[in-house]
Amino acid sequence: MKPFRALPGVLVLALTVLAFAADAPDPSEGAVRPAHPLKWDEMHQTKPAKYGDGAVEFHFSVTNTSKEDSVKILEVRPSCGCTVADLPSTPWILPPGAKGSFRATVDVRGRRGHFSKTMLVASDVGAQILGLSVDIEDPPVRSRSENLQLAAADRQAVFHGTCYSCHVDPIGGKQGEKLFNAACSICHEANPRATMVPDLNVVREPRDAGYWRKWIGEGKEGTLMPAFHEQHGGPLSNAQVESLVEFGLRHFPTAPAAVK
Ligand code: HEC
Ligand code: HEC
Repeated sequence: MKPFRALPGVLVLALTVLAFAADAPDPSEGAVRPAHPLKWDEMHQTKPAKYGDGAVEFHFSVTNTSKEDSVKILEVRPSCGCTVADLPSTPWILPPGAKGSFRATVDVRGRRGHFSKTMLVASDVGAQILGLSVDIEDPPVRSRSENLQLAAADRQAVFHGTCYSCHVDPIGGKQGEKLFNAACSICHEANPRATMVPDLNVVREPRDAGYWRKWIGEGKEGTLMPAFHEQHGGPLSNAQVESLVEFGLRHFPTAPAAVK
């Protein structure tokens, strides 16, 4: 006898459906999902930083707790362009029981206060979210003369640390006149203007494009005029410098005033 074969087709179908139904978790009963095989030492980390710090480094450590299966981490996707995750490889494969870690850096330039970001970890066993927070100390309030001293020691200091919020942050992607107002006016049109900062409306030597390009791009060593071109450690792209050259030629006199 072959009893299995003798089962009517309809019954086989009904049994199969039942078997599936029994396997599938019933959401209404709050079925417990198996624990995620990737166990992170800390899923959320917080670090302190000083105002003006460039990048803050984090290290996330993980264990594949599965005894049988490798886990493949496909991607770690930060919630903003300010966070970079350096995986050992992509895809990053963790054999059963293996530990590993990766570094993430958060750019906090110009930020203050509490700053939080997330990273989505996409793996072949489902997604997880890691959190990174930075607590940034308030910037020290410095006097004009203290700033001056720091600039005298290093004319490029004005682009870094506590100076960033006033001397670099307003620059952004601006060009031309707006860029001049954000980057140059602060010193050249200060009220009162410091004695060592010249009035740009007074022409001391004939001005052509090369004059502006050199002053803006390279500044002058041994003075407080910093080099603005990124090639010389400044915050401006070549296109931004050129937009200022054009603005300088158009907006300011080019020849010394005739002596009366
Ligand atoms: C809170 C905003 C702010 C910060 C922060 C700041 N500055 Fe300034 N800075 C100014 C302003 C505004 C002026 C124009 C002069 C004035 O009104 O004090 C200026 C002018 C200057 C000048 C031209 C000389 C002068 O006194 O006018 C230099 C050099 C300078 N700053 C360097 C620095 C350096 C270096 C730092 C960081 C250590 C810094 N500044 C931080 C706002 C700031
Ligand atoms: C931190 C203050 C500061 C900032 C910001 C600054 N300058 Fe200057 N700049 C100076 C000082 C100081 C000098 C005088 C250098 C010297 O002693 O010869 C100067 C000189 C110059 C000169 C030569 C003027 C002359 O008559 O000799 C030009 C041109 C100039 N700056 C343009 C710019 C432009 C354009 C920007 C913006 C991209 C800018 N500066 C931003 C401080 C500053």
